Amino acid sequence: MDFNLPILAPSILAADFTNLEKDISEAIEGGTKWIHCDIMDGHFVPNISFGPGIVNQVSKISGEAFIDVHLMIEEPDKYILQFVDAGSDLISVHIETCHHLHRSVQNIKKYGVMAGVAINPATSLYTIEPILSDVDMVVLMSVNPGFGGQSFIENTYERIRELVDLRESGEHNFLIQIDGGVNLNNIKKNAEHGADVLVAGSSVFKADNITTRVLELIERMGK
Ligand code: DX5
Ligand code: ZN
Repeated sequence: MDFNLPILAPSILAADFTNLEKDISEAIEGGTKWIHCDIMDGHFVPNISFGPGIVNQVSKISGEAFIDVHLMIEEPDKYILQFVDAGSDLISVHIETCHHLHRSVQNIKKYGVMAGVAINPATSLYTIEPILSDVDMVVLMSVNPGFGGQSFIENTYERIRELVDLRESGEHNFLIQIDGGVNLNNIKKNAEHGADVLVAGSSVFKADNITTRVLELIERMGK
């Protein structure tokens, strides 16, 4: 799939769930083509969000938008098929939750769905080096997972650079997604360091005007 990089990926975790169709439509009106769905189980992360039923509704509401599902759950392999059936275009699993990450990635790709690996801020990039040739995206957490509205962790910029170097030296072609605390003040710097997909939850859905904010973020991102 060809993407016009960089891409803004609004996270619906911050959306108004009593008006989800309205919020998503306003984000799409601003130019969003990618929706980030944060799945939380209250075990891997200290928060519970939503499941495949909501992802299926989001998929129906979002038309042609790309549905990116971020599994912040223990034992993700148990749920991959449910999220595939819900309409996911890409499913990311955390290395911290997978005893057999290569198998988990294959369990996603066998359904024709793109596979991502997510890593927490304190997890070394070198733990995912063996899987880089198999994944379509690496999710660099720029906050500790579990909640929207947190502050961006500044050493993420250096990690983006390191990941770009790993991609080039290994002749890989995965996307680099930055997830957490992205806003108008740091989105350009993230893109300039090499981020391909920028997740923004609060910055989009807590704005006074969602459509205007999406336009601003896309414009600020550059390229
Ligand atoms: C955090 C999630 C992020 C978060 C982004 O665990 O993975 O996607 O929802 O929200 P903001 O942009 O508000 O940090
Ligand atoms: Zn996320």
